[in-house]
Amino acid sequence: MTIIDGKQISASLKEEVAAQVATFPEKYGRVPHLTVIRVGEDPASVVYVRNKAKACEACGIRNTTIVLDESTPEETLLEKIRTLNADDGVDGILVQLPLPAHISEAKVIETIAKEKDVDGFHPLNVAGLWQKTPHLAPCTPSGIMKLLAAAGVDPKGKRAVVIGRSNIVGLPVGKMLLDANATVTFCHTRTINLAEVTREADILVVAAGRAKMVGADMVKDGAVVIDVGMDRDPQTGKLCGDVDFEAVAPKTSAITPVPGGVGPLTIACLMENTVECFLRRHNN
Ligand code: GUN
Repeated sequence: MTIIDGKQISASLKEEVAAQVATFPEKYGRVPHLTVIRVGEDPASVVYVRNKAKACEACGIRNTTIVLDESTPEETLLEKIRTLNADDGVDGILVQLPLPAHISEAKVIETIAKEKDVDGFHPLNVAGLWQKTPHLAPCTPSGIMKLLAAAGVDPKGKRAVVIGRSNIVGLPVGKMLLDANATVTFCHTRTINLAEVTREADILVVAAGRAKMVGADMVKDGAVVIDVGMDRDPQTGKLCGDVDFEAVAPKTSAITPVPGGVGPLTIACLMENTVECFLRRHNN
């Protein structure tokens, strides 16, 4: 059984990005610039946004973090985004989710210029993924595909099961696995006899947002298990995933830990998307 070391894989990807970015001042006269907006003080968002800034620093990417008050009106945020869209010095724009209830996430996502949408959440980038036309790909699904590749797992011909159907993870990762020639089943917390479905999986991706919901009885011997969860164990209060790691790991051929699995890859892919936005703007 292999514990897939997301931190290590992410570190080497970020080194590659840093080496590439180091060549940009001479070629283009500047480095890529990512602007991250956080609205309010959601504790998880505070940590995520800080980690994004740290990753930029490690890669030599310029970062601006804008913190807006919880009570910021929706129109103020949209206007800020429009200003950044028009700013030639900004390559990537990311608004950290979730947002306060009075702000429409859909409106925010639509307002970010698709060319600067480093999250790959804009409807036209989503369409590009599903229609196989050029697009910016969402970071967590891309990160999962990189983890599988790094672990030597080729999805071709395998049976992949995805628990979760969100726009951010479940749906796009299922599409990417399909494009990598896996046979894909989507299921969710309301699936009847969920364990019967998940036990068929050669590759099981869990993005359900429920602490330790996947137990050993739900996993086939030798399966590869990717845990996208970021939860709190209700008993201990400690950070844990959607998979009961202690129980499941011994049955698997490879598994991602939480923390230190998928999370670091999301950020590495964000760095790659920022470079992609920068290069597209300079090469067009
Ligand atoms: N909140 C949790 N994950 C993400 C993400 O990938 N992007 C943004 N913008 N917000 C998030």
